Amino acid sequence: MNAVSLSKPALSARLARRVVSPALFDFWATRLNPLWTLEQPLARLVERQPASRDAVTLILAPNRHWRGMQAGQHVNLGVEIAGRRLIRSYSPTPLDDGRLAITVKAIEGGLVSGHLARQAQPGEVFALDQAFGEMGVPKAGNDLLLLAAGSGITPLRALLRALAAQGMPVAVDLLYWARRRDELCFVEELQALAAMHPRLRVRLLLTREGDVPAPRIGELPLDQIVDLSQRHVLACGPGGFVHSARTRLEGRVAQFQAEAFSVPALADDEEGMVEVELARSGRRVQLARGQSLLQGLEAQGLRPKHGCRMGICNSCACARQSGTTRHLLTGEHSSEPSAQVRLCISAPSTDLILDL
Ligand code: FES
Repeated sequence: MNAVSLSKPALSARLARRVVSPALFDFWATRLNPLWTLEQPLARLVERQPASRDAVTLILAPNRHWRGMQAGQHVNLGVEIAGRRLIRSYSPTPLDDGRLAITVKAIEGGLVSGHLARQAQPGEVFALDQAFGEMGVPKAGNDLLLLAAGSGITPLRALLRALAAQGMPVAVDLLYWARRRDELCFVEELQALAAMHPRLRVRLLLTREGDVPAPRIGELPLDQIVDLSQRHVLACGPGGFVHSARTRLEGRVAQFQAEAFSVPALADDEEGMVEVELARSGRRVQLARGQSLLQGLEAQGLRPKHGCRMGICNSCACARQSGTTRHLLTGEHSSEPSAQVRLCISAPSTDLILDL
């Protein structure tokens, strides 16, 4: 028989699990130390740094249950506000000392972003899920074209740091859009990286400032900047930005990867209401076509399981038993029975039955 030796903390955790439930253990342990839990990763806010006019970078120190992350990945952060735990997804920059830097922009009406950007103070503790997401540093290959708009810079900044740590193994062009200069984040850091690494070029594009506002992604002559056919493109930003980048570039570049942190605006032909039946409870609700199923169900007072709200973590996936949904990021319709749909990025196009 193989002898398996356990470290002291692992042994204690195993013993504790035999006598109490993780939730009960955490309840009492966090009263002694807010970061002591049996299994749940938590992180304590240790520092706030201004990042732009309306964004702040929070430095978080995770407890020992956090398994670390790759640059470009996301993490779901659980924030307690008025007795409710609200979950939002962020793309942190992993720091060399194991801490995480999360940059948060206050969104108008955004409960969590407003709390984190304006009120959260050092000492506050947040729940973390393990990191997820596919947007990592590409294995050696094509040169890169990074397209960022607004908060979309955060995963790309993490990737740039990781590439810089490898000596910038491929040529990288970063195009970073914001409306105004004071909304840009990490400008000094990006310029310093470009000064250190001649293979990195950084362009800042301001669409509402200057005598000649910068063209948007749909109008910029990208093929005059780089040879698109040789580039691996990573795009990150609001849904409309990512949709424009996808429409313009997919199929024309060596590889296209994108992540949107919001869904694009409602298309004109997706208006009106449909009936959605929730098979497990038998409940029927009227939902707006074009709006995400997650938002629609929440507006009806339901609480479907979810995490990132941007189509990445898969926690909101459920089977669509019948009907047609539209993928809010690609515009594609799908009606295959029993297929999994992600509620946060799928809208009902027809009456639906969901396995919920
Ligand atoms: S909530 Fe993460 S994929 Fe829908």
